[in-house]
Amino acid sequence: MLAQKTIDIIKSTVPVLQVHGTQITTVFYKNMFTAHPELLNIFNHANQAKGRQQTALANTVLAAAQNIDQLETIIPVVKQIAHKHRSLMIKAEHYPIVGEFLLKAIKEVLGDAATDEIIQAWADAYGVIAQVFIDIEKQMYEESAAKTGGWSDYKEFKVINKVQESEVITSFYLAPADGSSLPAYEAGQYITIRLSIPGENFLFNRQYSLSSASNKEYFRISVKKEVTTENPDGKVSNYLHSDINVNDTLEVTVPAGDFTLLKKEGPITFISGGVGITPFMSMVATIAEEQPNREVNFIHSARNGTVQAFNKELIRIKDSINNFQLSYIYENPAEKDKLNPFFKKAGYIDTEWLKEHALMTDGHYYVCGPVPFLQTVIKGLRDNGIDDAHIHYEFFGPSLTL
Ligand code: HEM
Repeated sequence: MLAQKTIDIIKSTVPVLQVHGTQITTVFYKNMFTAHPELLNIFNHANQAKGRQQTALANTVLAAAQNIDQLETIIPVVKQIAHKHRSLMIKAEHYPIVGEFLLKAIKEVLGDAATDEIIQAWADAYGVIAQVFIDIEKQMYEESAAKTGGWSDYKEFKVINKVQESEVITSFYLAPADGSSLPAYEAGQYITIRLSIPGENFLFNRQYSLSSASNKEYFRISVKKEVTTENPDGKVSNYLHSDINVNDTLEVTVPAGDFTLLKKEGPITFISGGVGITPFMSMVATIAEEQPNREVNFIHSARNGTVQAFNKELIRIKDSINNFQLSYIYENPAEKDKLNPFFKKAGYIDTEWLKEHALMTDGHYYVCGPVPFLQTVIKGLRDNGIDDAHIHYEFFGPSLTL
């Protein structure tokens, strides 16, 4: 328990952090990586380069500080982050390193304004916040080891199939190199893959949603090739597309994530943009296997038919679900795209279109795609009177407030 005085100091420093939060975490990362370059094997360099991780950490520290006397209110957010930490093998021993460099960064940026009393209060508060993460993550490690018969670290997987799904999306089928079978996972979960790229000093890891229903033989991920290798975002996806082939190996951790399919009955609408379709392929395939009478509305938005993945697979799934509606929206459809029987609109999804095509009585809505897409769709759903409790969303990259 923190002393009331400490709580008061923490709460009074939140406005200062709001002004300097991102600057503090930027300094923090720079100094921490200088002292502990080995951590660059864990962190996503693309997120660092774009400042996304800095924003995510700053937001979370602020949220924690604001709620320091009632930390239980941020547990759902902590759980989502803890899933990611668990999938990246973040351990209790990493927390003091982050704490040390976070405090040093607060001191460096705030200068004299960061009195010893303030620094001590933040040291105490960080200790409490870190313990919440450590406890939740410890439980997750134990649960995943119990579920998988002891698989708790990176494990070697072999590529057993590589399938081009569209001009930009390719699927990789991954099976344990030791021939063991796989644990069940929940539709919507992701895996972390780790690999080394020739010429690079550090390991790369990335999270990819599993894009097929849980099965014992393989994990399938479907990766979009980002446009340029100059962009750190594209480094891993380009390497996977061009250099990773059948029989090559990658390291993988146990599936993680809480953006998962609600198994209860009731209508469900999936709305995806681009490669945001991947977790929904797993969800809809699971519904086809387990709940074929469930009402499903699948809406997918892509630039055009050439970059869109899974058209044939969706048509197969459509045959296994009794009440399945499929709609494609293409930003710039080619003439042949307009002949696709599921093509509904050229341009973008908007509130009006959602009103006509997406609404279902007492339905749940799952949304996944890039940030601007999510913002438009979520606003459109809210404007049509859909309650937030019925809207579930995920985008790729560290969580930011939408
Ligand atoms: C991701 C917060 C401690 C390593 C994240 C994210 C947040 C966060 C908000 C983004 C989650 C998402 O993508 O949805 C925190 C907080 C911490 C903490 C508040 C302390 C209380 C640590 C520690 C390490 C670590 C000790 C390891 C040294 C990472 C990594 C990612 C991550 C590698 C993924 C980042 C990426 O892919 O760019 N953390 N974290 N975190 N965290 Fe932490």
